[in-house]
Amino acid sequence: MSMKIAILPGDGIGPEVVAQAVKVLEALNARFELQEAPVGGSGYAAHGHPLPESTLDLARMADAVLLGAVGDWQYNTLERHLRPEQAILGLRKQLGLFVNLRPTLLYSELIGASSLKPEVISGLDLLIIRDLTGDVYFGEPRGIRQSPDGPFEGCSEGFDTMRYSEPEIVRVAHVAFQAAQKRSKRLCSVDKANVLETSQFWRNAMIKTAEAYPDVELKHMYVDNAAMQLVRAPKEFDVIVTGNLFGDILSDEAAMLSGSIGMLPSASLDAHGKGLYEPSHGSAPDIAGKDIANPLATILSAAMMLRYSLNLPEEALRIEAAVKQVLAQGLRTTDIWEAGKRKVGTCEMGDAVVSKLKA
Ligand code: IPM
Ligand code: MG
Repeated sequence: MSMKIAILPGDGIGPEVVAQAVKVLEALNARFELQEAPVGGSGYAAHGHPLPESTLDLARMADAVLLGAVGDWQYNTLERHLRPEQAILGLRKQLGLFVNLRPTLLYSELIGASSLKPEVISGLDLLIIRDLTGDVYFGEPRGIRQSPDGPFEGCSEGFDTMRYSEPEIVRVAHVAFQAAQKRSKRLCSVDKANVLETSQFWRNAMIKTAEAYPDVELKHMYVDNAAMQLVRAPKEFDVIVTGNLFGDILSDEAAMLSGSIGMLPSASLDAHGKGLYEPSHGSAPDIAGKDIANPLATILSAAMMLRYSLNLPEEALRIEAAVKQVLAQGLRTTDIWEAGKRKVGTCEMGDAVVSKLKA
């Protein structure tokens, strides 16, 4: 039986980087059925909606989804529900993708590309686990209204609601504890329990879930402190678990520790191992179509897909090894280039990974 993969290139550099990952998948001797559909701005351009029904159907039918990135300036003035980002939020919601895995791994070859000192980051390997369904992202009520009370009563105000239900926290907690069990058995839960009720509730649920994992050491950290510790001593962390909003911010910060967000893959999983895989970076419309974007995050996302959704762990390792070899050989896209290395474009980087795979 062949495995169905939905390919959603999206906008900006999305199509270029996804094309490289597709070459890599095709170079493996596995039976994949790849089917492509528009999403984000290109979904809107083709069908009048960022997540067209036909694209959602394809994603539902597939064993896994590989996505590039969404967003482009020309769509910024659309009403919120038609903006490209809604496609990502819609896919998470419609496919039940509740947990996001964002690893930050420093490749020793790229140590010079980070803005942090080598001793601070050498050997860095951390994993952020972020909830994707709760928090102010989806909490109701939300909107713009006349303030009903307080010192600014009667004035216009914008408001969102931070909310977490217990089962929503607990299911992410289980993923995080189990990930920690497979790594260093240390888990750091990040919240803002000194100020927010939601965070205190989050913390309590983490503590309760920890009872099932006596071998894992659970710590708690306030988000402001975590943001600071991530740049001060990132190697103190192994697995971090946090909510939707804090996770959005901290995962970008963590991504940059490795020198380039262009290197980092991500996975969003449902309860049955189906997932959506995408690079951690965005659509970067300013460099789209120039053949300079780094395709490695997308190629590494395809490797995560093989591991987590398609049960092909050896093929995943082969891709990761090929990426390492290409870096060791001195090939660099602009974002990770340094003196003495060979600058290559998006396509050439993809071809280089393919040729290592075939070697
Ligand atoms: C991310 C992105 C999304 C988010 C946007 C595109 C909705 O920033 O995946 O981190 O905020 O979750
Ligand atoms: Mg983000």
